[in-house]
Amino acid sequence: MNYGIPYMGSKSKIVKEICSVFPNADNFYDLFGGGFSVSHFMIKHMSKDYKEFHFNEIRPGVCDLIKDAISGKYNYNVFKPEFVDREVFNREKYNSAYIRFCWSFGNNGENYLFGKDSEPKKKSFHNAVVFNRFDDYAKEVLGIDHFFDNQGITERRLFCRSKIASYYKLGYSSDDILNLEQLEQLQRLQRLQQLQQLQQLQQLQFYNKDYRDIFIKDNSIVYCDIPYKGTACYGNEFNHDEFFNWACEQKNPVFISEYEIIDKRFYKLKEIDKISLLCATNKRTVKKERLYVNKAGFIKILSNRTKNKY
Ligand SMILES: C[S@@+](CC[C@H](N)C(=O)[O-])C[C@H]1O[C@@H](n2cnc3c(N)ncnc32)[C@H](O)[C@@H]1O
Repeated sequence: MNYGIPYMGSKSKIVKEICSVFPNADNFYDLFGGGFSVSHFMIKHMSKDYKEFHFNEIRPGVCDLIKDAISGKYNYNVFKPEFVDREVFNREKYNSAYIRFCWSFGNNGENYLFGKDSEPKKKSFHNAVVFNRFDDYAKEVLGIDHFFDNQGITERRLFCRSKIASYYKLGYSSDDILNLEQLEQLQRLQRLQQLQQLQQLQQLQFYNKDYRDIFIKDNSIVYCDIPYKGTACYGNEFNHDEFFNWACEQKNPVFISEYEIIDKRFYKLKEIDKISLLCATNKRTVKKERLYVNKAGFIKILSNRTKNKY
């Protein structure tokens, strides 16, 4: 299952491994929350271990996008997404977090999702799937001129996928034309509505601040998925040295994801392989991600182990 919204650098695929090391506490802070995958996982699976969840993300619009998704704004029954073309994307990307993150390449929030050649084709399939509006191209490739009303978006999308593959004689590779990724992404937004059923949602707070401006209560666990060194992809300069000093001074356990931290004040807990798409190169690579903890966290983990032994 995917957690959170589509987001560049999302931890969705490895969130389980990360969260398995967090000790219980009163409060959980996701200070560099991004696409909400870690908070989503924690609220869904570890809600009994914490009383409050605090989500922070400095980029404007992200918190509102997540709150809207949880409140059901992106449910298919009420939200029929218009196709966002390149022009609309470039005009509106800073006004709408939905357009910015769901219609950008690799969810990087900057570059339009589709190449110039595939855009008209994607639009044609999008309108067929979402609005049952077929132009000549959609009719020819899909071999039908309408969907039945009882066919859901997923069913329609998968039908398109297989028809496009056979029309262009493609296998099910990652070929660009096959996927209607904008619709898959909407399904992730829609899924967040399920969180509404959780009582713990009342204890979920959102902040749109710099991490240093968040007041951290006693008896908390803090998770920091910081922008990785050398990958300045989130539109702001991040000072790693300042952050490490801050993390070291914290009395609460601070868990940090990074490729590598050489600063000896932090303790390595885990290595996890992750496939990532970085905007600097637009290439998929497998990278080793590591999870570190500050001294307060290391002591807490050790004392928990000792307690469990006796
Ligand atoms: C690696 S991403 C987090 C991804 C997230 N864990 C997820 O699974 O989607 C790092 C995030 O830190 C945010 N960020 C950068 N500088 C920040 C700061 N000074 N305070 C708070 N957040 C910041 C970025 O905007 C970005 O969304």
